[in-house]
Amino acid sequence: MSRVFINYRRQDSEGYVGRLYDHLTQHFKRDDIFMDIDSIKPGEDFVEMLENAVAACDVLIAIIGPQWLEITDGTGNRRLDEWNDFVRLEIANAIRRKKLIIPVLVGQARMPAPKDLPEDIAPLARRNAVELSHQRFAYDVEKLINAIRDAINVDSSSVRTTDPEELRSKEAALKAVRDDLVNATASPLYKFRTDSRSFPVLGEGYADANIMFIGEAPGKNETETGKPFCGPSGDVLEEMLNGISLKREDVYLTNVLMDRAPEKREPTPQELAFYTPFVDRLIDIIQPGVIATLGRFAMWYMLKKLDLPEKRMTISQLHGKLIKTQLNYGEIHVLPLYHPAVVLYTASQKEILRKDFQKLKLFI
Ligand code: URA
Repeated sequence: MSRVFINYRRQDSEGYVGRLYDHLTQHFKRDDIFMDIDSIKPGEDFVEMLENAVAACDVLIAIIGPQWLEITDGTGNRRLDEWNDFVRLEIANAIRRKKLIIPVLVGQARMPAPKDLPEDIAPLARRNAVELSHQRFAYDVEKLINAIRDAINVDSSSVRTTDPEELRSKEAALKAVRDDLVNATASPLYKFRTDSRSFPVLGEGYADANIMFIGEAPGKNETETGKPFCGPSGDVLEEMLNGISLKREDVYLTNVLMDRAPEKREPTPQELAFYTPFVDRLIDIIQPGVIATLGRFAMWYMLKKLDLPEKRMTISQLHGKLIKTQLNYGEIHVLPLYHPAVVLYTASQKEILRKDFQKLKLFI
């Protein structure tokens, strides 16, 4: 587990801090990000409280904006020179405890010189800084996250730590959905399933995945094995995943239809109405941070489910655009992507898909 402490001055960098916090929550658990120690009760020793909070973190991010060095209090004294300044206390504490400190420069601020800092935080000036700009925000944050990971030696698979008990309970819940699908005799495709001796295809992957993909429908390869995306489209999907250092086992894969239709055609409204409640259940159990839809049908399902203003837009308008929204369990993003099968017919689409996949790096 990695805990991140965000040290900042509201007047100096508030706009950036909110955005940064949103990005960090995609990589770290909300409870592992400390900011605004606002629960200090009357009578409590705030110096001690801050000490404890800093002691509990692995990394302190010191956000430095253009006014950071000079901001004064009501009487004209520089805040940084006051013994009880929160920003100074937190940084001094992290230095004493030899915590990793990453200065983050925002609003074109420069790194202060040691001579401009009180002695107890002067060593901050020697730390290598990361710069965040509004224009390249996602790119810069990615650099920052990589710096945190490198420094505390966290590998991507362990960033979102799962309590083993919780994982078991999610796996059991997924099994219950699978059993219901197997027994779904009312499905418009059930007869074809049994006539063709096919398997239904619920989905596959990590029960606590942060990234979930929703495709269109299983094909012959999939219904012969019961596994999603195991034919040519699956090969493209795997290549794209590998391009962002992910494996199939790191994510969860499913489809808006879970049985194969007798002929190659688009899903019907009846089929979608029958199978998408199963997808709803998968989402409720897995609770991913991002849902990447593959193709038009999965995209429409998510946009309508969430009643998003984009629901009347086309995939050529929306592909590669992260849409931030809320589900009953918290904040999520939807990322519409072209279906990997498109790449099989039009090679030039591969680069577009590859580029759009880069957006998922924020959630690894
Ligand atoms: N395989 C799947 O599982 N889904 C698709 O949409 C295509 C191929």
